[in-house]
Amino acid sequence: MSIATGNAAAAAVGGSAGAAGAAQRYYRRFTPVERIMHAFLMITFVGCALSGLPLIYAERAWAQTLARLLGGFEGAGLIHRICAFVMIVVFVSHVVMVFYKAIKGGRLMAMFWGPDSMVPQLQDGIDIWNNFKWFIGRGPRPQFDRWTYWEKFDYWAVFWGMFIIGGSGLLLWFPVFFSKLLPGWMFNIASLVHGEEALLAVGFIFTFHFFNGHLRPEKFPMDTVIFTGRIPEHELKGERQVEYQRLLREGKLEAKETTAPTSESKWFGWTIGGIALVLGVITVVLIVYSIF
Ligand code: HEM
Repeated sequence: MSIATGNAAAAAVGGSAGAAGAAQRYYRRFTPVERIMHAFLMITFVGCALSGLPLIYAERAWAQTLARLLGGFEGAGLIHRICAFVMIVVFVSHVVMVFYKAIKGGRLMAMFWGPDSMVPQLQDGIDIWNNFKWFIGRGPRPQFDRWTYWEKFDYWAVFWGMFIIGGSGLLLWFPVFFSKLLPGWMFNIASLVHGEEALLAVGFIFTFHFFNGHLRPEKFPMDTVIFTGRIPEHELKGERQVEYQRLLREGKLEAKETTAPTSESKWFGWTIGGIALVLGVITVVLIVYSIF
């Protein structure tokens, strides 16, 4: 479907966004397993950040207070290792699940190509161009399929980040074992890489990723889709018109329709998302404050 058609269709459904409150339809976007894994990733990432940063800024009063709150530098180290272990388990499980699903369903190609793939494609480049044109008022707002280019960017940032931060972290965790395999200077590099990548990851997740989830005008104050797994019809039509039309064309839309999110799942989203947002913003403020 062309972007122009998508926009025309989006404009046509503009009214349904307004009527969203009445009899809202919902569609399934994330499975319970995906939501649970994201929750674990969030918790362990925040845990690693809070327990790791006091080491970088050990001379700062806030870092010493934070380390004390976490049970001293030893307690923080333990929390860091527990969170890191769970994070690695979540990451490895995710990769295994992606391959297992693709091979079992005979859809190996769909993992690399097509609307459900996280692999960047030509359309993503076109979407970036059109979105930036829209930012400066030079074109209509583009419509997206299952994954937007910024969602793919976030995904790969975490994916490759896991190899860098996880790999270097394991070297720091098990120096005796790795010293039998690697030269000594690798440990200096690992220590440097781990700290710098951590700052980059924290800076990125707690600003760009949070902005996309919380602060975009149409999402403010919070997009709860990753917690409830359900996207309301007006959002699917309003932002992911290409996906909506594709599902309609392929006759798959009806099968995706689901019940409204329960108030418990919404509250869970608001609570865990809100706590992460507050901790993330405080962390970024402290890092920026410590630089000057
Ligand atoms: C995923 C696997 C990870 C492993 C195995 C790991 C492991 C480690 C280990 C063993 C240390 C040394 C801690 C100590 O001596 O007490 C460390 C330090 C640190 N970690 Fe991690 N970590 C991981 C993920 C993360 C993540 C996701 C972040 C940030 C979001 C992070 C941030 C830090 C920071 C800032 C330090 C201090 C670095 C320095 O002193 O320069 N780590 N990590």
